[in-house]
Amino acid sequence: MGLTFVSPAGLRGRWPLPAGGVSLRPCSTRATLEGINKPVIDRIIRVDHAGEYGANRIYAGQMAVLGRSSVGPIIQQMWNQEKDHLKKFNELMVAYRVRPTVLLPFWNVAGFVLGAGSALLGKKGAMACTVAIEESISDHYNSQIRTLMEEDPEKYKELLQIIKQFRDDEREHHDIGLEHDAETAPAYSVLKTAIQLGCKAAIFLSERI
Ligand SMILES: [Fe+2]
Ligand SMILES: [Fe+2]
Repeated sequence: MGLTFVSPAGLRGRWPLPAGGVSLRPCSTRATLEGINKPVIDRIIRVDHAGEYGANRIYAGQMAVLGRSSVGPIIQQMWNQEKDHLKKFNELMVAYRVRPTVLLPFWNVAGFVLGAGSALLGKKGAMACTVAIEESISDHYNSQIRTLMEEDPEKYKELLQIIKQFRDDEREHHDIGLEHDAETAPAYSVLKTAIQLGCKAAIFLSERI
């Protein structure tokens, strides 16, 4: 897919373009960059891109183990939504000139290992992982919504709309996990706490580097 926007700083040369295809309307791009709080938006888009990238790797890991099981279709369905989320953040990174976190190669492996590892505990283990992750991510999206509302709800209307939509999707994934007996997974609360600690660390790092 061709990139048609003007990139004076040579974004293409300095940073690897986000994977997964990029589409962009150059006019809206120029408008969105005017008068925005760049450091705040950089942080938000970088960490969300990293999170959606990690989510894709988690579901890939779960599918590698449980793809042919009874929960395969439901995991695939959630994964498909994560693919859309990632695609959108890939577009936003280009539109807002945000570089991805340097930790992407690490999240690539860590996400897959977490997904496959939780799935090796069984269907309930995979669902416990989903509940833990999605609870953290929807809280994280809620705090970003608050930040953007405090900044300027009108200026960040498009971004707010996207984040609210994704927050609702993650909430739905969380509920699907609960409906599939996540809470009866072996060592559920230990697992959940450990995953959520990891999630917090991942968010902290991906916002900054
Ligand atoms: Fe997502
Ligand atoms: Fe999700």
